[in-house]
Amino acid sequence: MNKGSLIKELFSNIKTTGAVTFSSKSLVNKMLSFANFKGAKTIIELGGGDGSITRGIIERMEDDAQLLVFEISKAFCDNLRKEFKHKNIQIICDSAENMDRYLNGKSADLIFSSLPFSLIPKESRIEIYKKSRTHLDSQGYFIQICYSYLLKFQFANYFKSIKTAFTLKNFPPAFIMICN
Ligand SMILES: C[S@@+](CC[C@H](N)C(=O)[O-])C[C@H]1O[C@@H](n2cnc3c(N)ncnc32)[C@H](O)[C@@H]1O
Repeated sequence: MNKGSLIKELFSNIKTTGAVTFSSKSLVNKMLSFANFKGAKTIIELGGGDGSITRGIIERMEDDAQLLVFEISKAFCDNLRKEFKHKNIQIICDSAENMDRYLNGKSADLIFSSLPFSLIPKESRIEIYKKSRTHLDSQGYFIQICYSYLLKFQFANYFKSIKTAFTLKNFPPAFIMICN
């Protein structure tokens, strides 16, 4: 898929994608700067989309780490599979709320999310929060990018500590929530 087709897929599914553009390189770099990739062996990405965050994770992760990318759009999944053929990267065309089915009992060291939580139905949203908390290592981090500061109050029900950052270098400007 070229950039135009990716944007068309994003835009025509706005109720599930929740965005009109993909994350900027600057936002991705800032988001990933809060993660310690050293020793992180199981990494999850929620909402792979065009792969803008996936690409950044792959550049930083250790060779023997495993990355599981959840994405519900089949078109995005097909595109991600074409781009990321590494055997330690699994593109999973399923909702993030089913993450436990793919972890084989492992816990995640890092979870990166760009899911549009404000648009995800409450029941699914709660499942994703609960499973992210349950399947995150006690030393691990859940890092979310979002456009609303109010999401912090939802995350507070599941995570002990939440730090926030903000960047204007994205359209629209975005928050980063670093939870553990
Ligand atoms: C805001 S876009 C972010 C795309 C890309 N990661 C970025 O940062 O530009 C959110 C993505 O999450 C996907 N998505 C929405 N709900 C999901 C769910 N329950 N499970 C997995 N992916 C989901 C959408 O299809 C979309 O590709």
